[in-house]
Amino acid sequence: MSDTKKNEALGKGGELHQHAASPEGRLTSNQGVAVSDDQNTLTVGPRGPQLLEDHLLREKITHFDHERIPERVVHARGYGAHGYFQAYESHAKLTKADFLQDPAVQTPVFVRFSTVAGSAGSPDAARDVRGFAVKFYTSEGNYDLVGNNIPVFFIQDAIKFPDLIHSVKPAPDRDFPQAQSAHDTFWDFVSLIPESMHMLMWVMSDRAIPRSFRMMEGFGVHTFRMINEQGDVTLVKFHWRPKLGTFSLVWDEAVVINGADPDFHRRDLWNAIESGDYPEWELCVQAFTEEEAAGFNFDVLDPTKLVPEELVPLTPLGKMVLNRNVDNFFAETEQVAFCPSHVVPGIDFSNDPLLQGRLFSYLDTQLSRLGSPNFHQIPINQPKCPISNFQRDGHMQTFVPTGRVANEPNTLDDGAPRECPKTGFSSAPVPEAGDKMRTRPESFADHYTQARQFYRSMLDVEQEHIAGGLAFELGKCKELKVRKRMLGHLKLIDEGLCEDVSKKLGMVGMADDIKPAAPVRDSEPSPALS
Ligand code: HEM
Repeated sequence: MSDTKKNEALGKGGELHQHAASPEGRLTSNQGVAVSDDQNTLTVGPRGPQLLEDHLLREKITHFDHERIPERVVHARGYGAHGYFQAYESHAKLTKADFLQDPAVQTPVFVRFSTVAGSAGSPDAARDVRGFAVKFYTSEGNYDLVGNNIPVFFIQDAIKFPDLIHSVKPAPDRDFPQAQSAHDTFWDFVSLIPESMHMLMWVMSDRAIPRSFRMMEGFGVHTFRMINEQGDVTLVKFHWRPKLGTFSLVWDEAVVINGADPDFHRRDLWNAIESGDYPEWELCVQAFTEEEAAGFNFDVLDPTKLVPEELVPLTPLGKMVLNRNVDNFFAETEQVAFCPSHVVPGIDFSNDPLLQGRLFSYLDTQLSRLGSPNFHQIPINQPKCPISNFQRDGHMQTFVPTGRVANEPNTLDDGAPRECPKTGFSSAPVPEAGDKMRTRPESFADHYTQARQFYRSMLDVEQEHIAGGLAFELGKCKELKVRKRMLGHLKLIDEGLCEDVSKKLGMVGMADDIKPAAPVRDSEPSPALS
């Protein structure tokens, strides 16, 4: 049997039946031996000592002792569901990605929604960013769109990610607070990183407390590339639009809900799917060329900036429907491994320095979270097309390749997998040159204009919520110098916002004088593309 066929067979699942799935109804040990008594351990006499010999007790307890795997270092609390994606029409002009060609094809997907900062047991309705990760099981391999519900991010460079996360996680000495209220460390860090100001406006807004996963937008955040059959390259930003519209909770509701039902979001998704009320999203892109991007007044490689929709409108690509809950939370939702570097032919990366760091981080962390380089063999992670290569062995290997050849090229195995120069994944042939350096481009220096645009685009009540969120969260920060620094940033975003928050904190006139790295522009709309 060729490796390809074996791998296909493996995809259908092994012979291991656990729990109620045993066809014979026999309770067995992990060695398949029928168990005669699962209630009592082996002892000497009815009241005597237990015997080390009791292999059934030891097997059961040992397995239980090792049930937990590490939670994700971020996005630990999440909830997943299955569904499908269907393109509205062929998008061959934009990309050769197979799942975007034929409107008759439904591509299976698995989606995991998550909070970022809290641990696996934290409440659902925390003020936090939400992860929106989609695995498309395409005919050409798995494509993961690992996004968030907010279109921008806190930092511009991956090297700051560990610092950002350390600042928001429980402090190392006291291990609190837990993703519900502000941290001195978080406000200290972000107030020293002005690039986070745009994201902070979103995180302090209602967007950070969604009403439901079903009523949440999703964003790829970074600029990606699409490549068509002719080799034409287009830059894109990904958007998920919920069919139900975008709705939020207000803070007071969230606090009550978190106390009464910390599982509010997962229960809502589960119930909707169980009752046949399947949630839907529309996948859209903003598509533009390198030349058009060069004319924008921000850099499309900077993940703290969004591309305004007045500038580049959305092109709908297709719809996603979630219509099946998981059979087993651990096997699917916990063991699923999303990775931004899982792309298919027709989709490629940009030089966004945050994205480039992410391309390394996910596989690396999953090696320790899932414990083996063979975690792609776990059913939820397996592509629904054959895998054929010569990677071999390793912990928890379950493929059983046959034959003596495990190298490529070879002339000893006619049935061996070969490269596919025409149809295989290839990167966009983008010219690159330059000196090695550690620096930020000038084009990344404006940290306030889009933060201001966001704040000023809000309704009065939404602006009140942002000011209220900031005052509440900063009110939990004990460090006066940090509060003053933050007020200084708010002054650059909007003087009215700064005044409002200063009043609520009893700190009028105490904002630091922050010198922006680049002039802050008023919210003039950018000219639309023709
Ligand atoms: C999860 C790293 C930025 C979205 C994770 C995980 C790591 C990580 C280590 C845990 C993965 C796992 O255990 O399976 C990073 C790094 C970033 C970064 C180093 C910046 C340099 C972002 C951004 C987004 C994002 C900008 C959104 C566009 C997600 C999502 C998950 C995740 C949705 C959860 C996936 C799931 O549900 O399993 N990230 N991340 N991350 N990240 Fe990031």
